Amino acid sequence: MRSFATLELALRLRSNSIGDNRSRSRVDTSRFCRLGKGCVCGFSRDLGVFARNTRSAMGPLPVFAETGEETMLTKRSWAEPYKIKMVEPLRMTTREYRERSIAEAGYNTFLLRSDDVYIDLLTDSGTNAMSDRQWAAMMLGDEAYAGSRSFYHLEAAIQRVYGYKHVIPTHQGRGAEHIISKILIQPGDVIPGNMYFTTTRLHQELAGGRFVDVIIPEAHEPANEHPFKGNVDLQKLEDVLRENPKRVPYVSVAATVNMAGGQPISIQNLRAVRDLTRRYGAPLILDATRVAENAYFNQQRECGWPIARIVREICSLTDGCTMSAKKDPLANIGGFLAVNDEAIAEKARNMVVIYEGLHTYGGMSGRDMEAVAVGIEESVQDDHMRARVGQVQYLGEKLRGWHIPIVLPVGGHGVFLDARAFLPHVPQEQCPAQSLAAAIYTDSGVRTMERGIVSAGRDPETGEEHKPRLELVRLAIPRRVYTQAHMDVTAESILSVHEERERIGGLKIVYEPKYLRFFQARLTPVPVESKHASEAEQLAPVALN
Ligand SMILES: Cc1ncc(COP(=O)(O)O)c(C=O)c1O
Repeated sequence: MRSFATLELALRLRSNSIGDNRSRSRVDTSRFCRLGKGCVCGFSRDLGVFARNTRSAMGPLPVFAETGEETMLTKRSWAEPYKIKMVEPLRMTTREYRERSIAEAGYNTFLLRSDDVYIDLLTDSGTNAMSDRQWAAMMLGDEAYAGSRSFYHLEAAIQRVYGYKHVIPTHQGRGAEHIISKILIQPGDVIPGNMYFTTTRLHQELAGGRFVDVIIPEAHEPANEHPFKGNVDLQKLEDVLRENPKRVPYVSVAATVNMAGGQPISIQNLRAVRDLTRRYGAPLILDATRVAENAYFNQQRECGWPIARIVREICSLTDGCTMSAKKDPLANIGGFLAVNDEAIAEKARNMVVIYEGLHTYGGMSGRDMEAVAVGIEESVQDDHMRARVGQVQYLGEKLRGWHIPIVLPVGGHGVFLDARAFLPHVPQEQCPAQSLAAAIYTDSGVRTMERGIVSAGRDPETGEEHKPRLELVRLAIPRRVYTQAHMDVTAESILSVHEERERIGGLKIVYEPKYLRFFQARLTPVPVESKHASEAEQLAPVALN
């Protein structure tokens, strides 16, 4: 038992080095810590020594067999590479209660109270279960306003795992998007990228830029099983670069692509993008939010390397990244901007002070930075990623087996239902994905999220609604939180809603805020027009009974 070994070591050190000297009434604690490398139970006035020693006290991360090696995991079922130490009770409600809750929430799952949710698959953002090592590291958080030791731990982890030179911490991913957009984009600029992401595009637009989608066409086809639907269409990208000389401040590449269903980009494609951007003198900025999940797919479908090596390779092909530490890095809050260019870093360090906080905390507390630093290291462990993506695949394959329309191949952080195919009788103007998300909640208390016309928002110039080809409901799986049984319950609820799909109607928006409307929009049911449903059966998305 690790804890016993730690105690034993501490006691041995105390009696050997400090001595069982009864006449010494006070233990020299700073000496105790210096001597007791690897011990967590001493306190020191020399905090630098304490931090360094305690880092090893938490022990190195477990080492797992690399891909390709014959292990039990390749021959038999795998299980989560962790055991549960603390639990949080879930609350189950009645259908009647949920009908009222979703109506009160304006049929927007973002406006539900989490107490009214049974299994929360709204997002994988900040919903991670942290490891014992992360919690232990949090206790060591240095809350100094300036020069926090925890910042240097974070900086070292980022440099080690991702390889960028300069690190600017932010409160979460959008903080980093804000800063890089403000630094690089001039009004009238064009930013090509492999499909938009809501906050990323908004910050580009607020800085005066215009996002142009250059993802391959297969990404817009839910049933297309292209292994790398996050790939950039190289011809489209080159056209944008050629037609907009000096107007492309950077090319933005996400790994994986959230809005396409968590789909990966291949290393081969990224290398080609790199060559193009070099030729046209445009920097390449990575949205690294789920880069380790992307690396899992590269490992399985492309190269077989360990995740850590792939992550490093992907980052080395780019000039910098924005990161939401609420995803891959297994934390509940945090983010950063990392770049190689000193001049950009200098500007970012200056700007972060205005919007986030000093450049050595950027909106995070010291303990947050410690949790992110440890989470980053854990996120590139092969076993962790196999279980993380494996759980998503399990749910996806189950639904696929029942012929429920989902985005294929199954993505890295969630299963995406194809709402157009699920509810073909609900036109896009009636928000089929939002409607389906509301119906699933009503059926079982499982909370999901719309990724369709509501999320896509409006063109800032014309005010016209964007009409995305993909109309999806996302079941995002929080990392290390739910068990396979929760996945079974979720799958069975979707099956039951699928069986009743013809009775589900659409929704119309009755209130929307100016920015990122999906977070706070309110909707109301539109009666269903189905040849299969009689007048009496015409039901709003949640009134299935
Ligand atoms: C791909 C991607 N980029 C950026 C962000 C923004 O990160 P945050 O929510 O930490 O601001 C998200 C969040 O969901 C995301 O999925």
